[in-house]
Amino acid sequence: MAEKKPIFELKNISKRFGGIQALKNVDFDLYPGEVHAVVGENGAGKSTLMRILAGVHTEYEGQMFWKGQPIRLKSPKDALDHGIAMIHQELSVMPVLTVAENIFLGRQPTTSYGAIDWPRMFREADEALRSLGFSLDVKKNLEEYPLGVHQLVEIARTLTSGAEVLIMDEPTSALSPKETDRLLELVKSVAKSGRSVIYISHFLEEVMQVADRITVLRNGEKVAVMDAKGTTKQKLISLILGKELDFFEESYAGSVVVKEDQPHETVLSVNGLTLHRKFEDVSFRLRRGEILGIYGLVGSGHFELAKAIFGLWDYDSGEVTLDGKRLPKGSPRAAIDLGIAYVVESRKQGLFMDAPIYQNISLPHLGKLSGLVLSPAREIAAAREVITEVGVRPNDPFKAVGNLSGGNQQKVAIARWLVFPPKVFIVSEPTRGMDVGAKEEVLEILRKLSEQGVGVLVVSSEPETILSVSEHILVMSKGKLVADFEGVEVTKSMLLDKA
Ligand SMILES: Nc1ncnc2c1ncn2[C@@H]1O[C@H](COP(=O)(O)OP(=O)(O)OP(=O)(O)O)[C@@H](O)[C@H]1O
Ligand SMILES: [Mg+2]
Repeated sequence: MAEKKPIFELKNISKRFGGIQALKNVDFDLYPGEVHAVVGENGAGKSTLMRILAGVHTEYEGQMFWKGQPIRLKSPKDALDHGIAMIHQELSVMPVLTVAENIFLGRQPTTSYGAIDWPRMFREADEALRSLGFSLDVKKNLEEYPLGVHQLVEIARTLTSGAEVLIMDEPTSALSPKETDRLLELVKSVAKSGRSVIYISHFLEEVMQVADRITVLRNGEKVAVMDAKGTTKQKLISLILGKELDFFEESYAGSVVVKEDQPHETVLSVNGLTLHRKFEDVSFRLRRGEILGIYGLVGSGHFELAKAIFGLWDYDSGEVTLDGKRLPKGSPRAAIDLGIAYVVESRKQGLFMDAPIYQNISLPHLGKLSGLVLSPAREIAAAREVITEVGVRPNDPFKAVGNLSGGNQQKVAIARWLVFPPKVFIVSEPTRGMDVGAKEEVLEILRKLSEQGVGVLVVSSEPETILSVSEHILVMSKGKLVADFEGVEVTKSMLLDKA
């Protein structure tokens, strides 16, 4: 690419948030038609760098050159006008609006009278999605579709915006393997057409498959930029962690041998659970001290099943019992009081971004922690203990959750349930958005809980996560349990095959 000029350059970028140095003297550039990946641990500064480029953070040190000219972006709108569009890590779609409105949010086609041209908007939204290889009912509200679709709609919006530079911050965290493959093809074809893509992901295989160059950030500093060709996953991991590889071993070697049926005591039993159009006649038992994995593609009904067990969703028939006692349906409060904990697959649903860490942690336990009057001191002390246990960075209970990096938000969502250890821990997508090191830490927390006798139910669409921790694996497909692996060797392709 020597003959080409970069479309933009960031030079010597530094950014502080109060006492935290999020970026330190970082250089970054992008060429036309290039896919440039950015990788690094949770909190390394990836999203911050991209938010500077997308006009979100306007206060920083250093310089930005757009096609050779120095510029200072004033707002996200200003960035968009220059042709820079960003898909945020935490989605910005609006579930209560239609699919079409979400695709055209802020730039709806209008009639000559200035009113929204609905027929045209529906038609163009439909065309846009089809050109990307997806077919949705664009008149339906987005909330009727699963999270993976929200992510696709956000991607479609950005791709159709005509931007020259597309920033994708963890675009595949809610996508199925098939959707992910399609997206990677799409990214390549966008680049072929001369537009440029910045691609942030913790999935290093994806990164190596799609990127031309890779920049590695560690602790806010750029530690390497290199051609993707010729690098290896091992090399990337050691650059990301700043440690030699033998320190870190992936916890599954491509397969796992699940246990024989155990005689242990059942703690949670689900019998014939059915919710119209979501899941049907689901029965299984979770034993004390066991980690049971339920694998399914996005949309297979496994996330909805988890919500129904915890009481967030009602179900039509069947029953759930805990220690032999029937759980009332539709009551998370009752579920919590009886000893069930639940982490939702989407952080945005599960956390109050504007509230400090300690309030997010104490929320489910206010009754137990405070008695008749609120006791912030006890809330704070409890929070301090559990965030230290799971390694939230920064270790500051007063920090607003919205100011944490994505992976650290996930740790908060898990830590809140360690204040009073549950009997059953249901966790959907425990490692979504986590770097290789943090992933291990969270899986280790789940293992520890199981050693303490907690029944752990891991619900996930990431085969690696399921294979890394599960002692028993179920597969869900189109709302039904279709496979039950016990006492055999299970591989990723076996899971994908059944799903
Ligand atoms: N708005 C903010 N206010 C205060 N601190 C912030 C804010 N945004 C980010 N930070 C801090 O800056 C650092 C870098 O965060 P950033 O979100 O850029 O990490 P990241 O590399 O995107 O991580 P992840 O992979 O977890 O998404 C973190 O320590 C984070 O807590
Ligand atoms: Mg981030």
